[in-house]
Amino acid sequence: MSLLDISALTVRAGAKTLVDGVTFSLDAGERVGIIGESGSGKSVTSLAALGLLPDALTATGSVRLDGSEVVGRSDAALRPLRGPVAQIVFQEPLTALDPLMRVGRQIAEPLRRHLGLRGAALREAVSRALAEVALPDARIARSFPFELSGGQRQRVAIAIALAARPRLLVADEPTTALDVTVQAGVLDLLETLVRERGMGLLFISHDLAVVSRMVERIVVMQGGVVVEEGPVTQIVGAPRHPYTAALVESARVLDSALDAGGSE
Ligand SMILES: Nc1ncnc2c1ncn2[C@@H]1O[C@H](COP(=O)(O)OP(=O)(O)OP(=O)(O)O)[C@@H](O)[C@H]1O
Ligand SMILES: [Mg+2]
Repeated sequence: MSLLDISALTVRAGAKTLVDGVTFSLDAGERVGIIGESGSGKSVTSLAALGLLPDALTATGSVRLDGSEVVGRSDAALRPLRGPVAQIVFQEPLTALDPLMRVGRQIAEPLRRHLGLRGAALREAVSRALAEVALPDARIARSFPFELSGGQRQRVAIAIALAARPRLLVADEPTTALDVTVQAGVLDLLETLVRERGMGLLFISHDLAVVSRMVERIVVMQGGVVVEEGPVTQIVGAPRHPYTAALVESARVLDSALDAGGSE
């Protein structure tokens, strides 16, 4: 049984179809990427996968998360599933953080709720969670989100997402809002944590180079449909769909431009 099994998922906003018949799955411990141009339905698909679609959008088809059907279930019914099974990290870390709560307390919350930790054990777990995302400074726990840099905030958001030890992490453009120099560090961190814990990863990005580095298999979306799916080597080495070929070609052009620039 797959950890995430999406089958004929269609998402509509009124009469408008945003995502049409999306089907793919992700096994336990597997890393899968979704790539596609802006508006192709990557975020809508990933939100639907966790039952987090806004009220204005309706999903049909099936999404099974660790065997449980997500489509058509209420937010309240899904909440217990989300903590230990699947968590999401968004592009903008501030969406995940409470601006008025010190970050230590925000990390403590899921540790208390899902792992039942209290008192000294809870305080220790918070320090450990911060150290795991390379924020060992005790001052960070006492800071408010606005007192941290963008990279530090995203590390805190990752710590919160991972606190309940989910088996699947969905990361929707987790480094797009960050400075390039900070991006690499956050990607390294995500890669290490996912590998060490044997977690499944659904990694969304419009950047083929970044996706190829993070995952084993890529789902290519265009205009709300999956146009191609395969192992990274096949998608990059022998793309079948013209849109995928164009993505690979533009990544190549950029790469050789960077090479040329570097050798001057
Ligand atoms: N709440 C909503 N109501 C109506 N339409 C929406 C809503 N959210 C997204 N859409 C539409 O659904 C389509 C897919 O959007 P989605 O956010 O999934 O794209 P994306 O692939 O994540 O793009 P990006 O790379 O820019 O993040 C777009 O046409 C978008 O305008
Ligand atoms: Mg998006």
